[in-house]
Amino acid sequence: MNDKPIVLLTHPLPAEWVGSDLDGYQVILAEKGQKGIQGKLIEYLDRAAGILCLLDDPIPAGIIENAPQLKVISNLAVGVDNIDLAACNRLGIAVGHTPGVLTDSTADLTVALLLAVGRQLVAASEDARQGKWSSWDPTGWLGVDLKGATAGILGLGKIGSAVAKRLAAFECQIIFTNRSPKPEQARSLGAKQVSLETLLRESDFLCLHTSLTAETKGMIDREAFKLMKPTAILINAARGGVVNTADLLHALQSGQIRAAGLDVTDPEPLPPDHPLYQLKNCLITPHIGSATHGTRKAIARIALRNLALGIQGEPLEHCVNPQVYNHPG
Ligand code: GLV
Repeated sequence: MNDKPIVLLTHPLPAEWVGSDLDGYQVILAEKGQKGIQGKLIEYLDRAAGILCLLDDPIPAGIIENAPQLKVISNLAVGVDNIDLAACNRLGIAVGHTPGVLTDSTADLTVALLLAVGRQLVAASEDARQGKWSSWDPTGWLGVDLKGATAGILGLGKIGSAVAKRLAAFECQIIFTNRSPKPEQARSLGAKQVSLETLLRESDFLCLHTSLTAETKGMIDREAFKLMKPTAILINAARGGVVNTADLLHALQSGQIRAAGLDVTDPEPLPPDHPLYQLKNCLITPHIGSATHGTRKAIARIALRNLALGIQGEPLEHCVNPQVYNHPG
């Protein structure tokens, strides 16, 4: 009989990222094509000490409540909206995440999306490929200037700040909203903290960098789009659910805003027949904000450390609910 702690792994990871870190466990790997805790993983759930999962693996209360040995859920992501945190808090289960290491790659991708949408890179490249580049056209493929534009950052956390820093280097004026005051960051970025309404009204580029919570779900909706400039560009590299998808579609189709660059969508993945894909003023990438070789490996390394510490009953390196260590159970 195998008496190693059981770890449920929802997706295979490259051996080069994992090294010997999983050697001390009985690792139960999900069958191909299954998301979250399903199939074979369910059979081991009542004995599992740890779960190592991805940001699109749903871990609802029903799973957590049926895992009496579970000590830790280690998410390979900074966002943990896929996990029922209330259930974890109630049952004393630590939830690990991976902040910091993906800040720069996600900020880079945000700026890449803004430049790609703002300068029509995809349409221009497609036209060139299709033989529509017949001469240098003084009015062809015109885009927007970054210098002098107002960039609005919704949520000046790590990633929002990194985006603000990059856009300040492009000589954008930076405005931002944040739950708490950020006077020092405002000073160092030459940025101004404003109300949500001002952010929506004044931004030429609106970049979303808030986590998905009950408060932020659907906050960019029909009412928000009504306040935005018809020339505004929306960039979302945070969570799709922060934007109401039907209202975004309407805003893009009706010219309420100029364009959008989305690395995240709601639902995710966005089905291939979704009308957003038909729009020339919408660029969609498949949630690749942290997708660099270095970042994804660093994410895996942190998640593996969180897993090991959680199984040993020690504080995780990056824990979203450290209060569970004072849990009476
Ligand atoms: C990516 O979206 C993450 O939360 O890490």
